[in-house]
Amino acid sequence: YRDLRVALLGCGSVGAQTARLILEHGEELASRIGARLTLAGIAVRDVHAQRDVELPQELFTTDAERLVQGADIVIELMGGIEPARSLILQALQGGADVVTANKALIAAHGRELADAAEQVGAQLSYEAAVAAAIPILRPLRESLAGDHITRVLGIVNGSTNYILDRMDRFGDSAEDAMRVASELGYLEADPTLDVEGYDAAQKATILASIAFHTEVPVDAVHREGISGITLTQIEAAKHAGYVIKLLAIAERITSSDGVAGISARVYPALIRRDHPLAAVYGGKNAVFVEAEAAGELMFYGAGAGGAETASAVLGDLVSAARRHVVGGPGIAGSLHAELPILPVGEVNTAY
Ligand code: NDP
Ligand code: HSE
Repeated sequence: YRDLRVALLGCGSVGAQTARLILEHGEELASRIGARLTLAGIAVRDVHAQRDVELPQELFTTDAERLVQGADIVIELMGGIEPARSLILQALQGGADVVTANKALIAAHGRELADAAEQVGAQLSYEAAVAAAIPILRPLRESLAGDHITRVLGIVNGSTNYILDRMDRFGDSAEDAMRVASELGYLEADPTLDVEGYDAAQKATILASIAFHTEVPVDAVHREGISGITLTQIEAAKHAGYVIKLLAIAERITSSDGVAGISARVYPALIRRDHPLAAVYGGKNAVFVEAEAAGELMFYGAGAGGAETASAVLGDLVSAARRHVVGGPGIAGSLHAELPILPVGEVNTAY
């Protein structure tokens, strides 16, 4: 196999799990891709900090700019706008493909970064930026590209769903639930982004822009967070047959004076207890897509967490790596594993 140099920027909740998966699954990934992924280094602020995962010390550096030079694929998992934006631009201008989970950056500078990628024929992908492990951006962009999407709505923030769920089902205080959400790696570096709905609004921007082929600025998204929600309100909702969930909704509407356009909003909504969204517990997310021909589709899974998010990052990484090998994704036809097919009697068929 040829080697592809991968530069990893950030080694927090998501970065550490991404590094672990690249190192642990190296052989399997190499046979799936047709090239070996070499982790060239990991840029962090503190090379001696305690990490969630034990990783070779020699991989760590504080010199992110140098690490990006000569990389075939750069994975940005630092978060925030700068220096993430400049480093991604540097990577793209150098011809590297870029994978990121940074919704704050994509929501604010997605067009600039996509243009920079297009100019040099590089790939910029960010499946992990919305709803973590759930494949939602690629289905919207590719599988539904021929349909006419009318609405995208759902729970797109894992930590606030976890907090509201703990308050609803176990009577936990918001503070206690938030502390556990932090331990689980669900919260942003600045938790205000989660609690005040900024993170969900950034995701609504990304979903709406892809679904409606229109640039939807993040400040055009109406935003209300969950900081004002009390246990008393949650109990009152429960007695009335509802659960409170932070929803993101982006839809095509026609204004009262007949103008067709897009409306996007994030707010804590009352959901009937028999609605499927009411059963989205803990750090899970769920996204409904309504399209003219496809009808209603539902996507469900882990909406936050290090390993869960790293799964989506790895998906983008494999896709980018395949481009280097075959000039396109081409993953579907790659039958590489030699596993025996076992008779049905070998498995437990009770489901
Ligand atoms: P963390 O805060 O846990 O980790 C950030 C990492 O980036 C740390 O290793 C930190 O270094 C490093 N870093 C930050 N700033 C710099 C800098 N200026 N120079 C070098 N290194 C830097 O973040 P997460 O792993 O939780 O999130 C990473 C990205 O993924 C964010 O964009 C987030 O929004 C996104 N995301 C997160 C999800 C989650 O569930 N956590 C889910 C989906 C997306 P050091 O350790 O030395 O401080
Ligand atoms: N802080 C984010 C959340 C991480 O809670 O959903 C996943 O994007």
